[in-house]
Amino acid sequence: MIKVEHLTKKYAGQTAIRDLNFEVGKGEIMGFLGPNGAGKTTTMRILSSFMPPTSGRATIAGFDIFEQSLQARAHLGYMPENVPLYSDMRVTEYLNYRAALKGIRHRRMAERVGDVKELCGLKEVENKLIGALSKGYRQRVGLADALVHEPDLLILDEPTIGLDPNQIRQVRELIKNLGKQHTILLSTHILPEVEMTCSRVIIIHKGRIEACDTPENLLGRIRTAGGVTLEAKTGSDDGAYELKKIPGVRDVTVNEEDGWKRFSLRVEFGGDVREEVFRLARDRAWDVRELTAHRATLEDVFVEITHSDVE
Ligand SMILES: Nc1ncnc2c1ncn2[C@@H]1O[C@H](COP(=O)(O)OP(=O)(O)OP(=O)(O)O)[C@@H](O)[C@H]1O
Ligand SMILES: [Mg+2]
Repeated sequence: MIKVEHLTKKYAGQTAIRDLNFEVGKGEIMGFLGPNGAGKTTTMRILSSFMPPTSGRATIAGFDIFEQSLQARAHLGYMPENVPLYSDMRVTEYLNYRAALKGIRHRRMAERVGDVKELCGLKEVENKLIGALSKGYRQRVGLADALVHEPDLLILDEPTIGLDPNQIRQVRELIKNLGKQHTILLSTHILPEVEMTCSRVIIIHKGRIEACDTPENLLGRIRTAGGVTLEAKTGSDDGAYELKKIPGVRDVTVNEEDGWKRFSLRVEFGGDVREEVFRLARDRAWDVRELTAHRATLEDVFVEITHSDVE
């Protein structure tokens, strides 16, 4: 559905994205992750024909985004980072206007606009001025706009930014449902959101793709297999010093509260060090009130990849 080849964009000599290559298959929900300034918005704007790349090419549904931009755009709904909305238009009026711009015939317009209002939960605000809507509702208008011409591909640039937790849940559900019938490229900073909704994930860092895989494979790939938490009173022992000697423990951090030390152990991939930790605590006669292991999350993967080369 999307094919990107050697895509590069320079702004006034500064390279924002560098030789990107990836494909998004029909029906996929692809997560697009990266720290601030990584190049996500730049890539999405190029794919939406808002600006040309410096070099490289991309196709949408087989159409070149610049040579066949009209055909490519007919397949694509784009929700930009900052949804540009006309604040003095009413919701229905705005969606009608956008539908007309996108070439929807007058006789189909009422039906289409009605459908997207229904889908995005906009019925109760349809007659309100956009300027009077809350942030969450404005985001929904942006999403309805992206959907109104029935594209089979959606490019969503941080659709949940600035929303409260309830609204985030609602928009996430909406995206999941849309994913049943649409191909989606979704950028976000909320990693649990990606684990819950995406079939594959691209991690971009300083304009380069560092990883492109399923969330499960990414989790399997990183060296740290999550961590172990130990809460103990270690008497005259340092604790961290002894714990670090256990094979498989990469590093240990400590927080102390009310005489209890809370140790966070990062461990090597594939090992479970809890038995060793227990034996150590027993041998050293430490009081223990917690010993738990937790799996690596996508956040661990993200930190591992994007902090690996701190300059
Ligand atoms: N119009 C512009 N002119 C010059 N440089 C730009 C412009 N837009 C973006 N950049 C630069 O390109 C790089 C990539 O920016 P981009 O907006 O694509 O990042 P992003 O991944 O979307 O970040 P964020 O998570 O903050 O939205 C940054 O270094 C940014 O400063
Ligand atoms: Mg951005």
